[in-house]
Amino acid sequence: MKEQQRSQWASKLGFVLAAAGSAVGLGNIWKFPGKVAAYGGGAFILCYLAIVALIGLPVMLAELSIGRATQKNVVGAFRQLDRRWSFAGGIGVVTLFVIMSYYSVVGGWVLKYVWVYLTGADFGAGPDRYSAFFSGFISQPLQPLVWAAAFLALCIYVVVRGVSGGIERVSKVLMPCLFLLLIAVALRAVTLPGAGEGLRFLFSVQPGSLTGDTLVGALGQAFFSLSVGMGIMITYGSYVPKNDDLFKSAASICALDTLVALLSAAAIVPVVFVTLGQEGLGMGGGFAFMALPEVFAKMPGGRLFGLFFFVLLFLAALTSAISILESCTAFLIEEFHLSRLKATGLLALPLMLLGAGYSLSQAGGRGINLPWFDFSAGFQWLPMNAVMEKFTDNLMIPLGALCFCLFVGWVWGTKNAAREIGPQGGKPFPLARPWGVAVRFAAPLVILVILYFTLGKGQGLS
Ligand code: PHE
Repeated sequence: MKEQQRSQWASKLGFVLAAAGSAVGLGNIWKFPGKVAAYGGGAFILCYLAIVALIGLPVMLAELSIGRATQKNVVGAFRQLDRRWSFAGGIGVVTLFVIMSYYSVVGGWVLKYVWVYLTGADFGAGPDRYSAFFSGFISQPLQPLVWAAAFLALCIYVVVRGVSGGIERVSKVLMPCLFLLLIAVALRAVTLPGAGEGLRFLFSVQPGSLTGDTLVGALGQAFFSLSVGMGIMITYGSYVPKNDDLFKSAASICALDTLVALLSAAAIVPVVFVTLGQEGLGMGGGFAFMALPEVFAKMPGGRLFGLFFFVLLFLAALTSAISILESCTAFLIEEFHLSRLKATGLLALPLMLLGAGYSLSQAGGRGINLPWFDFSAGFQWLPMNAVMEKFTDNLMIPLGALCFCLFVGWVWGTKNAAREIGPQGGKPFPLARPWGVAVRFAAPLVILVILYFTLGKGQGLS
């Protein structure tokens, strides 16, 4: 690549919406409501809010400041500040790559559901038709991969068009659409008869539900949902002009992300609760794909709301996936001097291959019967889907976040970072002190606690 002027966001709002687009994703709409339900409602929400403010926001600021100070990709940024810490950037790139591979597969499922709702919402017959439809679909060998490829192609299309011409432009249109759709779905949901009971379950703190598990669950969810711990915010921060105030932007990003998570929970948990009872809430990851279609089928105008919902989920997934792909792409462009098109093209095949492993291991590989190879035995031995999710969520993201905090707190120094957070030539960052304490002590400690719980107890990766 010839020496070019480095890309920048064209406007502050554009940056906030693009970063919020990264943060708001499947994690908010697909994972958060399920976790709230699983961890007993209000207690989880309280933990989550505290963690976002006290840990998530400080870590996000640490990442943004590294990015803006160096104007480099994840690995390049660390190399510039202190060569010995390049490995921290490397952890980020590996995490991003693995997440992107399975995010494309789940993005493909969402696209498929948009298609199903567009073409008549036919889920077949029988009492268990929704779950049978979903598990039938994801355990097919080829079809989910075709949808995943379509999803990945869309991401590549946007990323190739560049930072302000592609990502910023798309986010500025998609994010407001997402909000409007979500509000429409939430309004419909809370006005259904009986929704009050569900809302009460959601927001009341049941005695005994505030446990260590709730806390660890909330921590993992917060990092994933805010897109911190893997260097996305380093990449996005590297495109922020020097005269922007990073604190205001980071606070807006965290607030938007949390608002969407809460709205999604309010839209989803009560209706599922009312329509399917406690049992519906136990569906875990299949919440969106199995419980909700059943709910939509039971409510008047449900097909339209089903369509709205999956379009919403698709927009959220797309802007997140774009941020992941952009961060991997920026790494290849700058470290290996490739063009945007070449960099994304080079990523596509390995991403699809790893994604294929994730997709084929759904349902234990039982959907693929080849006469010469027993896939299900292989996938029973190595359940790739679960391993990939746990590897990133429980190990790599906390490890990345830990490295970023230790680096900013103890190596590069919170003074240098705090100087970067305030706008250049403007007022210094007023919360530099408490932020420094969070980055040097609170966040690393809390992250070590998560790592202990998930790995030390030997349950994290199996
Ligand atoms: N934050 C996104 C979500 O909530 C997911 C994500 C993870 C995005 C990692 C980028 C990187 O779904």
